[in-house]
Amino acid sequence: MAGKFITLEGGEGAGKTTQARLIKSYFEESGFDVVLTREPGGVPEAEKIRNLLVQRDGGNWTPMAECLLFFAARQMHVETLIKPAVAEGKIVICDRFTDSTVAYQGYGHGFDLDTIRQIEALTLGGFSPDLTFLLDIPVKDGIGRSLKHNNSAPGDENKEDRFERLDVSFHERLRQGFLDLAKKNPERIRVVDARQSAELVFGEICAAL
Ligand SMILES: Nc1ncnc2c1ncn2[C@@H]1O[C@H](COP(=O)(O)OP(=O)(O)OP(=O)(O)O)[C@@H](O)[C@H]1O
Ligand SMILES: [Mg+2]
Repeated sequence: MAGKFITLEGGEGAGKTTQARLIKSYFEESGFDVVLTREPGGVPEAEKIRNLLVQRDGGNWTPMAECLLFFAARQMHVETLIKPAVAEGKIVICDRFTDSTVAYQGYGHGFDLDTIRQIEALTLGGFSPDLTFLLDIPVKDGIGRSLKHNNSAPGDENKEDRFERLDVSFHERLRQGFLDLAKKNPERIRVVDARQSAELVFGEICAAL
């Protein structure tokens, strides 16, 4: 039997990584084989692209080039890791996926949404998650959590904070973008109030699983 592909989405500090780990344990305890992965990255080639995209000195990409890099990494990830694992019956849990590109590059930076969808169709050919949890949190709470746990070294050019350093209005557009995606895909995307404790958030996720 084929497995399932589950993704976690939301802004910085929403709790995606925390919940991804909890979901992994939940399925493992029930005897499933689980693959926990993340984007951008997840396979060696895509991790190389990740460095170009998320590090402070990764490059000053045009919106089109940046979008193509995200989907180049994603195509490798889907073809070499996600699809084979799902075909073997595994549960694949991915920390961010296409919704993040649509929210950040599209809603956040204003890159044309139709163009993103065309690139998605070309590279992924309609492949999408079986289920997505959108961890929704007010912008200031999410950034507050990120900053609190980010022991920032100002001189560190490898630091993965290129997106976190964007302004508050950007993060507001991002949040509304994710919520808009959820409204347009109600059967796939479950919105969870991420202001709650990690235990309560996970409780809602379990109920849906
Ligand atoms: N529900 C919660 N309530 C309070 N703190 C939380 C909650 N969930 C996670 N945290 C803490 O907030 C910080 C950010 O959580 P986490 O790394 O899971 O978020 P994230 O969405 O993966 O963030 P990023 O986008 O930066 O990767 C962590 O230190 C985590 O321990
Ligand atoms: Mg994370």
